Amino acid sequence: MIRSYHASKGRSHHDICLIPASVHGTNPASAQMVGMQVVVVACDEQGNIDMQDFKAKCELHSDRLAAVMITYPSTHGVFETSVKPLCELVHEHGGRVYVDGANMNALVGIATSGEFGGDVSHLNLHKTFCIPHGGGGPGVGPVCVMQDLVAFLPGHASAGVAVKVVGAINAAPLGNAAVLPISSMYCRMMGADGLKHATESAILSANYISVQLKHHYPTLYAS
Ligand SMILES: Cc1ncc(COP(=O)(O)O)c(C=O)c1O
Repeated sequence: MIRSYHASKGRSHHDICLIPASVHGTNPASAQMVGMQVVVVACDEQGNIDMQDFKAKCELHSDRLAAVMITYPSTHGVFETSVKPLCELVHEHGGRVYVDGANMNALVGIATSGEFGGDVSHLNLHKTFCIPHGGGGPGVGPVCVMQDLVAFLPGHASAGVAVKVVGAINAAPLGNAAVLPISSMYCRMMGADGLKHATESAILSANYISVQLKHHYPTLYAS
């Protein structure tokens, strides 16, 4: 979709999507589905994105760089300290930063991806906001973008949502709408302080389990 938009405006093709080796398989799959070419970035021995490799690939593909997709904290469970410079680097090369919101339960109330450099992010209500996760779904959630990307959000002619550049991407305008009241009620009942507390206890619990099980399962990566 992004590629055909650029093509229709007579612009050069920006179709390279950098994706770190640590990400979930759905990230390269999504990039491929919209016609992007995936370029994998290496991770170092601590499981962090290898910034040297990242910089080299930004420079090599600068002319065609569309985006990087990252997950924060990473799929390795680490809050990578290089995330801000990473986002800045992509922006310097004209690319955008997609932050996979799958691990948002470790950020809610503490940080937002837009603050550290993300341009687009989805929230998985079925992971972070109380929708049961398992048995294949029901997955649903909003896509959040920086102001200058609002025009590229999908529209839906039959639902009264104006179609600007991108039309419907789903037959149902609001996706799996019947589950949305669950997340809405969860947020209202928790309140801002409650949501922040849930994040803090999620991080504490993850570390507690890791320490309790350390004689049985190694913790592969840590900050
Ligand atoms: C980092 C990451 N991205 C994407 C996904 C896929 O999520 P979904 O259930 O929305 O397909 C997962 C699944 O756990 C994940 O861990």
